[in-house]
Amino acid sequence: MFARRTQWNLSANCYSLAVDHARGSGRTLLDLTAGNPTAVGLHFEGERILRALQHPEALQYEPASKGIAAAREAVADYYAAWGVALSTEQIILTVSTSEAYTYCFRLLCDPGDEVLVPQPSYPLFEFLADIQDVKLVPYELVYDHGWQIEFESLQRAITPRSRAIMVVHPNNPTGHFTRHWELERLNGLCREHELALVADEVFLDYGLADERGCPTFAAERPRPERRLLPRTRLRSSVAAKVGETPLSFADNHAALTFTLSGLSKICALPQIKVAWIAASGPPELVHAALERLDVIADTYLSPNAPVQWAIAELLATRDGIQQQLRQRVQHNLRELDAQLAKAKMTTRLEFDAGWYAVLRTPSTRSDEETAIALLEQESVLIHPGHFFDFPGSGYLVASLIAPEEEFREGVERVLRAMDAGT
Ligand SMILES: Cc1ncc(COP(=O)(O)O)c(C=O)c1O
Repeated sequence: MFARRTQWNLSANCYSLAVDHARGSGRTLLDLTAGNPTAVGLHFEGERILRALQHPEALQYEPASKGIAAAREAVADYYAAWGVALSTEQIILTVSTSEAYTYCFRLLCDPGDEVLVPQPSYPLFEFLADIQDVKLVPYELVYDHGWQIEFESLQRAITPRSRAIMVVHPNNPTGHFTRHWELERLNGLCREHELALVADEVFLDYGLADERGCPTFAAERPRPERRLLPRTRLRSSVAAKVGETPLSFADNHAALTFTLSGLSKICALPQIKVAWIAASGPPELVHAALERLDVIADTYLSPNAPVQWAIAELLATRDGIQQQLRQRVQHNLRELDAQLAKAKMTTRLEFDAGWYAVLRTPSTRSDEETAIALLEQESVLIHPGHFFDFPGSGYLVASLIAPEEEFREGVERVLRAMDAGT
């Protein structure tokens, strides 16, 4: 009765069974997997957010396929703050980044066509691709004092069915930005093989802001000649530090590029359901893509009016919440590094941005087994690396947005258990 594409193995894996069991037991668990920014004790401007959702214009039905103009202008302003000049015509609103991926896959792929995805990365892609009848083909990211694209593996992965290269910038959970030299090679491959770039930038605003977080790519990059608003330099403390604006793929013109982002991370409001696609690239390709995306978006008209009318005001709340998140990440990272300095069996990988730290642990067994042992023996929840397709075992992923005290105690238990050979 059901389509083959929905024939998923829905039985719980050992780790989720162990989590259910631990939660059901009533034990207090220390959660180092926290990813929901609304549930980690941050202060939101609640009244301002709710007031923004009561715009009188929201009582009018205005079917605008790409989203209402005021909302798209607010998104264009967000990019202007990054030094990127976009016209509202280049922007299409969606309810989530996941929906934005769906539109891109629908635009670019016939059933069975292939999209190249970084590995390790975010695990949602698999389902998104299944639902759209798209085949994901992984390309490798390699780590050597920082992550980068392994271009030989990317080149090997390209076939006549390839339609797009996906990039997560900064990647989740490895937290590395795409460097300028990588972008140039990506553009070259896209032009050579007629591929599009799909860049997920949901964590773009979360560059590390302390002395560690000074990404060399920023210095490599020529200064954009486009319109820079005065607040550009204030937007990213990383940028301010090196006097340069980190790249956004929305400013890429050398290949057809779809840049995806939204309020779930920018404003830490995943429940509001606002995201977008910004299309850039060679004008004739962008024009053709936008015409087709317009039809896809018009078919669904997904974003609702109250939320669209609120976008400008919601984006205006981002500085306050991002500052809290940055402080939380910095605090937890300092705590982690202080504890790691005394640990024997665990280190962490370098990263530029984001909400996660990747821990390197002994690879004497699978990461799932390690995570289950930590849950059962230490009452700590931590992501096993295999969730994100890390190469081999010996990786755990800890959320840096977890409440400070919970993070401190959780990390202490993890590192102690690793040193004790758990
Ligand atoms: C890299 C990445 N992209 C997309 C998303 C989903 O974003 P949205 O809530 O807009 O669908 C997430 C959520 O964690 C993510 O980590």
